[in-house]
Amino acid sequence: IKRIGVLTSGGDAPGMNAAIRAVVRSAIFYGCEAYGIYGGYQGLINGDIKRLRSQDVSNIIQRGGTILKSARSTEFRTEEGRAKAAAKLAEHKIDALVVIGGDGSFSGARLLIQEHDIPVVGIPGTIDNDLYGTDSTIGYDTAVNTAVEAVDKIKDTASAHNRLFFVEVMGRDAGFIALRVAIATGAEAVLVPEIDTDITDLEHFLEKDYDPKQSSGIVIVAEGDKAGGAYNVAQKVGEAHPEYDIRVSVLGHMQRGGSPSAFDRVLASQLGVAAVDALMDDQKSIMVGIMNKEIVHVPFNKTIKNSKGLNPELLNLVKILSNR
Ligand code: F6P
Repeated sequence: IKRIGVLTSGGDAPGMNAAIRAVVRSAIFYGCEAYGIYGGYQGLINGDIKRLRSQDVSNIIQRGGTILKSARSTEFRTEEGRAKAAAKLAEHKIDALVVIGGDGSFSGARLLIQEHDIPVVGIPGTIDNDLYGTDSTIGYDTAVNTAVEAVDKIKDTASAHNRLFFVEVMGRDAGFIALRVAIATGAEAVLVPEIDTDITDLEHFLEKDYDPKQSSGIVIVAEGDKAGGAYNVAQKVGEAHPEYDIRVSVLGHMQRGGSPSAFDRVLASQLGVAAVDALMDDQKSIMVGIMNKEIVHVPFNKTIKNSKGLNPELLNLVKILSNR
């Protein structure tokens, strides 16, 4: 392998820049040339490709977003789109690809490998942490910290008015962000997509443990929760309890931005180097991940097919610790 391309795909995540830096610098360390592909798979199809030298990735480890830009490409979902992408790689003599993204990005990568025999290694980059085969994805720790900071602020105002807040956090179909944020902020309850929400249960819990005239309360709602998000849950609880002073806050995309945490920078650096190492070792069609602090190689097949469950012990913690 002489030329390695790197792209970011899907929703951006803090720490992607640190991963790009690690890929570029380790590729150069091994005597390869590194190429940045701008705008995800669509950028690849369009041939938006530029050589990256070591200095091009200086001073980015601390920056959120992605210097390579990101996109979700519909054209790449077609066979013709992938053929165009493969032709662009050939034109630039790029022999291998590192894709930083989530499972949608890896599904695309797997098709590119199957149809055009191009080695691809994936790096898990998404705030949602919903990838099988890695304890943590790049961006998850930062997003959790950002949301915790926001909820701490909401708690100040909630407490001043004895209000019950429903705070919605991101995570698409997964409750990882919600669960960790709920524990870290001492929330009364958490609603996650992995567990069917019974609003009546939540109401009973609040009736038992929450005196609306005496105290404030926080309920963290994952955006993918089956009850339909924070506004819906708040409306239902409010109908049953008009005496509660209820407010809703949807944190939204602020959770995707900001400077990556030290944890994410280190993880991204480790995984960036591990991805290039794997390519040097003739690996293809794998994601590099971290399990119990060890770098692991997970076949794309496995990570795409399987889903990672929430830790039941953490779920239980919320219940135990919210008893008043
Ligand atoms: O996958 C990351 C994520 O931020 C999810 O948590 C969220 O559901 C989605 O992306 C939002 O996507 P978009 O930025 O396209 O609105």
